[in-house]
Amino acid sequence: MAKYKIAYLPGDGVGPEVLQAARIVLDAVGFDAEYVHGDVGWEFWCKEGNPLPDRTIEILKNTDACLFGAITSKPKDEAEKELAPELRGKGYTYFSPIVAIRQLFDLYANVRPCRAFPGNPLNFREDIDLVVFRENTEGLYSGVEFHPVPDEVRSVLSRHSPKMQRFSDVPAEELAISCRIFTRKGCERIVRAAFEYAKKHGYPTVTVVEKPNVIRETSGMMVRIAREVAKDYPGVELWETNVDAMCMWLVKNPQDYGVLVSSNMFGDIISDLAAQLVGGLGFASSGNIGEDYAVFEPTHGSAPKYAGKYRVNPTAAILAAKMMLDWLGETEKAQRIQEAVAQVIAEGRVRTYDMGGDASTLQMAEAIAEKARG
Ligand code: IPM
Ligand code: MG
Repeated sequence: MAKYKIAYLPGDGVGPEVLQAARIVLDAVGFDAEYVHGDVGWEFWCKEGNPLPDRTIEILKNTDACLFGAITSKPKDEAEKELAPELRGKGYTYFSPIVAIRQLFDLYANVRPCRAFPGNPLNFREDIDLVVFRENTEGLYSGVEFHPVPDEVRSVLSRHSPKMQRFSDVPAEELAISCRIFTRKGCERIVRAAFEYAKKHGYPTVTVVEKPNVIRETSGMMVRIAREVAKDYPGVELWETNVDAMCMWLVKNPQDYGVLVSSNMFGDIISDLAAQLVGGLGFASSGNIGEDYAVFEPTHGSAPKYAGKYRVNPTAAILAAKMMLDWLGETEKAQRIQEAVAQVIAEGRVRTYDMGGDASTLQMAEAIAEKARG
């Protein structure tokens, strides 16, 4: 029997090909696993009205960790149009499977390292080493949304908030509300995870990225809790930066920052920005980590126009696999992958199209696998 059982959810678009690449590298370092394939993604939305079938959730419950490829998601109206004719009008609504998995399994920390590999022609600077900790289960992604807004909801809001009165003449159809829900527990555990990481890996600062001067209650709570938690980590300094300014500083002086911590939506945004500083989404991996389960994925989407072409850079998926090994405690194997990626990039002989080369997805994976084999 293999040492680990890994849920293998390729999804759609380029998901399957980048996971195939990751597998080549995992095999090369001798990772001893049985992979259990799970259905997920657009195809299952169209055929079954559910992009995350129950049988897939069962697989996640019965594995040690999950590798996730990528998934296509489309706005409400388009999603409805692509549903099998017999399923239309039956009240099925599309939801993002990865967001659902994060919430269902309480994978509260979305960890997104953005480190420049020396020699990558796409680096904005060579000395960037950022790690984004994004809250992954609440905030604007809580899914508590209204359109049209029921009268009852509106009247409760007006009663409790004079600010709501400004909208009292707006017809229900013309009003939409998405709730930004923060909890003390949610804030505290993400901030603590960020500080723990900074302490363990020697980062001098954790920057909390919010907007408490305007979004007083939610952002305010996050910053207040960050100040409390920071007291437990005397060796790590807490910096506080508003999200808009952070975007500017990340372009101006990214080398000054280390660990960043933010809520779900802001974390989503700044992690794409941080990824581009170190070569773009081809290099950005992400771990969705909870207390006892974790899902690892490339940060990029499904890039449907490249699907099946084996052109996209698999480094993000390979680094996601590396993060999975670290999380499972297979640190020596993880380290070998990290070094292999660094060597291939530094040598610059094998490069995918995003880096100005013409290597295919699998050629890039093979080059990394060869170094990782040792
Ligand atoms: C990400 C992605 C997802 C998100 C999408 C695909 C739902 O942008 O992982 O950053 O918004 O979290
Ligand atoms: Mg994103």
